[in-house]
Amino acid sequence: MTFQKDAAPVTPGVPETTLTPEKLALLRQALQVCPMMLDLTGLSMYPAIRPGDRSQVASVDPNDIERGDIILTTRDNRIYAHRVIGIKGNPPSEWLVKGDTLLSPDPPVRAEDILGRVIAVQRRGRLISLLTPRARAHGRLLAALSYPYSRAFMRVALWRRSVIARLANSSGIRARRRSRTEPTFTRPARESDIESIAFLMGDHQLQTAPISAVDMETLRGHAAEMLDSARAVGATLWVAERRGFVLGYAVVGPLDENGPYAPGWWVMSVYVKMTARGSGVAEAIVRAGLHDAASKHVPCVRYAAYETNRASIRLAEKLGFVPDASPEAQAFARHYEQPGGRGARLVILRKNLNP
Ligand SMILES: CC(C)(COP(=O)(O)OP(=O)(O)OC[C@H]1O[C@@H](n2cnc3c(N)ncnc32)[C@H](O)[C@@H]1OP(=O)(O)O)[C@@H](O)C(=O)NCCC(=O)NCCS
Repeated sequence: MTFQKDAAPVTPGVPETTLTPEKLALLRQALQVCPMMLDLTGLSMYPAIRPGDRSQVASVDPNDIERGDIILTTRDNRIYAHRVIGIKGNPPSEWLVKGDTLLSPDPPVRAEDILGRVIAVQRRGRLISLLTPRARAHGRLLAALSYPYSRAFMRVALWRRSVIARLANSSGIRARRRSRTEPTFTRPARESDIESIAFLMGDHQLQTAPISAVDMETLRGHAAEMLDSARAVGATLWVAERRGFVLGYAVVGPLDENGPYAPGWWVMSVYVKMTARGSGVAEAIVRAGLHDAASKHVPCVRYAAYETNRASIRLAEKLGFVPDASPEAQAFARHYEQPGGRGARLVILRKNLNP
């Protein structure tokens, strides 16, 4: 659970989870005076704290914290509300804290990192106390079962997202998702999107790798590199966001030097979060890139997809791309051919913009 300021976020529509040291000090002081209602975002404490809940946080003497309590801590100017699953020392000097649904604990918490304790949750207008004997017993049970619970939660979450993504194969479900979702906004990515893009890269990696293989630090590096190398060649890394959350990205522009060279502009690295598939995210991003290309008088844009990637090819066809038999397109496709004709063939499509 991370903290979301209720005032205007730094970038429009993007939840801010990093506070300045001054704002942190202010929050700490305010909590000393009286309990505060905070909006805590994320699913790390689901179902104890759910999206849309408000959490009542009060200052706490660290000696009074019990196993099972949810405490508000700060690390790297971020705020977390996670459950205490262990306490070290007598008197206590270190608290072991973990999000209920997260597979690993936070780094050990010291007294100075503790801002307060979540004493109640406001849900649909009702205030639910977390300090009743029953709620505390429940908290202790969740602390004891934290690891098996988070593993089960993760398995269900991974299964759910793959079902949602697979359902996007049905055109009827895609049409329904599109009619029900809120508008998608597209814009060039900024440095502040690196975290979100890294998360999407992790979402992609989870299709083939176990969660333990997803290294956010490495992915942040890949995301920053993608942004830098796109900018270096005059391409744009586009992102699409809905309700302030980045749901997909793509690069549109000239190719960088990391692969085979082919002239002109390309649509590259299109990716949409699995749970947002079929709701028009990729279409919005690629349209933004095409609009940008047309405004810069780019004559044509190419699109490459493996022949087995039906969704990607259909997306390109919907946006007016047609097969490209030009020698440079074929040379590009050959670069990705596997020896002996094994593996899927790369299909190159093209859309003329400024005849
Ligand atoms: C391919 C991908 C980008 C599509 O993203 P998306 O946001 O789900 O697509 P959209 O909702 O914008 O759909 C736009 C059009 O794409 C096509 N499309 C999208 N998903 C499809 C699917 N599962 N099956 C068939 N066509 C599909 C359709 O033509 C759709 O229009 P329609 O619903 O009116 O028929 C997404 O599935 C993805 O990220 N896949 C993994 C990464 C990847 O393969 N990237 C492409 C690399 S070349």
